[in-house]
Amino acid sequence: MANLNIMQLLSLALVLTASTSVTASASASASAVKAIYWMDQPLFPASSINTSLFTHVYYAFLAPNATTFKLYVSNSTNTTLTNFITTFRTRIPTVTTILSIGTSNATSFSLIFSNITTRATFINSTITVARAYGFDGVDLDWEFPQNSDDTNNLASLFQEWRVAITTNAAITGKPPLLLTAAVYFAVYFSISDTPWTYPVTSINHNVDWVNVMSYNFHGSWNNDTGSPSGLFNPTRNISVVDGLKSWIGAGVKPEKLVMGMPLYGMTWQLQDPNVNGIGAPVIGPGPGSNGAMAYFQVIDFNKQKNAKVIYDVDTMSVYSYSGSYWIGYDDPLTVTAKVGYAQALSLRGYFFWAAGYDTNDWKISTQASKAWILT
Ligand SMILES: *[C@@H]1O[C@H](CO)[C@@H](O)[C@H](O)[C@H]1NC(C)=O
Ligand SMILES: *[C@@H]1O[C@H](CO)[C@@H](O)[C@H](O)[C@H]1NC(C)=O
Ligand SMILES: *[C@@H]1O[C@H](CO)[C@@H](O)[C@H](O)[C@H]1NC(C)=O
Ligand SMILES: *[C@@H]1O[C@H](CO)[C@@H](O)[C@H](O)[C@H]1NC(C)=O
Ligand SMILES: *[C@@H]1O[C@H](CO)[C@@H](O)[C@H](O)[C@H]1NC(C)=O
Ligand SMILES: *[C@@H]1O[C@H](CO)[C@@H](O)[C@H](O)[C@H]1NC(C)=O
Ligand SMILES: *[C@@H]1O[C@H](CO)[C@@H](O)[C@H](O)[C@H]1NC(C)=O
Ligand SMILES: *[C@@H]1O[C@H](CO)[C@@H](O)[C@H](O)[C@H]1NC(C)=O
Ligand SMILES: *[C@@H]1O[C@H](CO)[C@@H](O)[C@H](O)[C@H]1NC(C)=O
Repeated sequence: MANLNIMQLLSLALVLTASTSVTASASASASAVKAIYWMDQPLFPASSINTSLFTHVYYAFLAPNATTFKLYVSNSTNTTLTNFITTFRTRIPTVTTILSIGTSNATSFSLIFSNITTRATFINSTITVARAYGFDGVDLDWEFPQNSDDTNNLASLFQEWRVAITTNAAITGKPPLLLTAAVYFAVYFSISDTPWTYPVTSINHNVDWVNVMSYNFHGSWNNDTGSPSGLFNPTRNISVVDGLKSWIGAGVKPEKLVMGMPLYGMTWQLQDPNVNGIGAPVIGPGPGSNGAMAYFQVIDFNKQKNAKVIYDVDTMSVYSYSGSYWIGYDDPLTVTAKVGYAQALSLRGYFFWAAGYDTNDWKISTQASKAWILT
C-alpha cells in the first residue's frame, strides 16, 4: 500500500482534494499569497528570484539590538537592504516585500516583549526601518515562545503593533504595512516543559496572516528515517494536516493561514542499506549540511548515485536512497498534493523556505504556482 507510481499518487491527490473541499468554506476574498524567504547571502542574489512565481518576497533577517531594543542596521546591511528593495521595485511583475525580524537568541525577544515600554521602542523601530527602505510589511520570526507569559506578551505585541501600523498609515497617507509572523507547525506547543498555545484572538484581530512552518517534523535528531514535511503521518500527530487542523480547530480563520513548504530535504545514514523504508533505523545524518540538503542537491544526488525514488502515499511524501544514504523531501508532485490540500482548506496561500534551494529553473516553485488555481 505504501509504494505507488506517480500516476496513482496524483489521482489520489486529486480525490483527496475534491473530498476535502466539501467541508471548506467559500473561497477567501483576499488574494492568494505565494511567498518565499530570501536570506542575505552572496551565493544567491535577490535579483535571481523569478518574480513571476511569487507574490511576496521576505528579507531574512534583521535582529533587534538587545540593549536598545531597536533593529540594528550595519553599513553592509544598509547596502543589502537598499539593493533588495531596488531589485524588486524594478522587477516586472513587481512583488510585495516584507522585512522579516528574527534572531538566533529567542530569549532576547522574550525580554523585549515582556515590557510595554520596550515593546513600543521595538515596534517604532520596525516601522521606521521598514518605511525608510520602502518595505510593504514586517514579519516576526520568533522560534519560539517558551511559556504562556511569552504568548500573552505576544498577544499584546500584535495588538500594539497593529495600532502603530494603523496610526502610521493615517499619518503618512500610505497603505498600512502588512503584519505577518512565522509560527510553529501547530497552534499548540506541547514539547516544552510548560505547554502553551498561540494567542488565537490576537492573531485573528491584528495579524494579516501567519506563516505556518509545516516542516522539520523529522531530522538528524531522530534515530530512524521519516518524512520531514509529510502531508500525513499515520503513526504520530506530527504532519502538515495535523498542524493545520490544530490551527483551524483553535479558531484561527483559514484566510489567516499560509502553509509553509521546505525547498530542502533531510538526510540519514542507514544502519542497514537493505532496511530502507520509512522508519528504518539510522546511525546518523547523511550527506549535506548537518543532514539537510537543498532540493537541487537532492536531484543531483539522485542522478549521480542512480538513487531509487519512492513515493510514499501514507505520508504523501517522497524519499530516495542509494547505498546507505537516505533522503526525505518534497518534489513537484508532493507539492501539488499539498497545494491542493491548502486550497481545499481555504487557506490564504503558501510560502517556501528558502530562495536558492529550488532547481535553477524553479521546478518546485513553478509547479506550486501552477497548482494554486484559486485567485
Ligand atoms: C519565470 O517563471 C515564468 C513562469 O513559470 C517563466 O515563464 C519564465 O520563463 C521564468 N523566467 C526565468 C528567467 O526563469
Ligand atoms: C547595541 O547597542 C549598544 C548601545 O547603543 C551598542 O553599544 C552595541 O554595540 C550594539 N550592539 C550591536 C550588536 O550592534
Ligand atoms: C557607516 O557609514 C557612515 C556613512 O555612510 C560612516 O560615517 C560610518 O563611519 C560607517 N560606519 C562604519 C562602522 O563603517
Ligand atoms: C545606506 O545606503 C545608502 C545607499 O547605499 C546611502 O545613501 C545611505 O547614506 C546609507 N545610510 C547609512 C545610514 O549609512
Ligand atoms: C540572549 O539574550 C539574553 C537577553 O537579552 C541575554 O541575557 C543573553 O546573554 C543572550 N544570549 C546570547 C548567547 O547572546
Ligand atoms: C520596562 O522597560 C523600561 C525601559 O527599559 C524600564 O524603565 C522599566 O523599568 C521596565 N519595566 C519593568 C516592569 O520591568
Ligand atoms: C517613533 O518614535 C518617534 C519619537 O517618539 C516618533 O517621532 C515617530 O513618529 C515614531 N515612529 C513611528 C513609526 O511610530
Ligand atoms: C529511538 O528513539 C525512541 C524514542 O526516542 C526509542 O524509544 C527507541 O528505542 C530508539 N530506537 C533505537 C533503535 O535506538
Ligand atoms: C498531538 O497529541 C498530543 C498528545 O495528545 C497533544 O498534546 C498535541 O497537542 C497534539 N498535537 C497536535 C498538532 O494536534
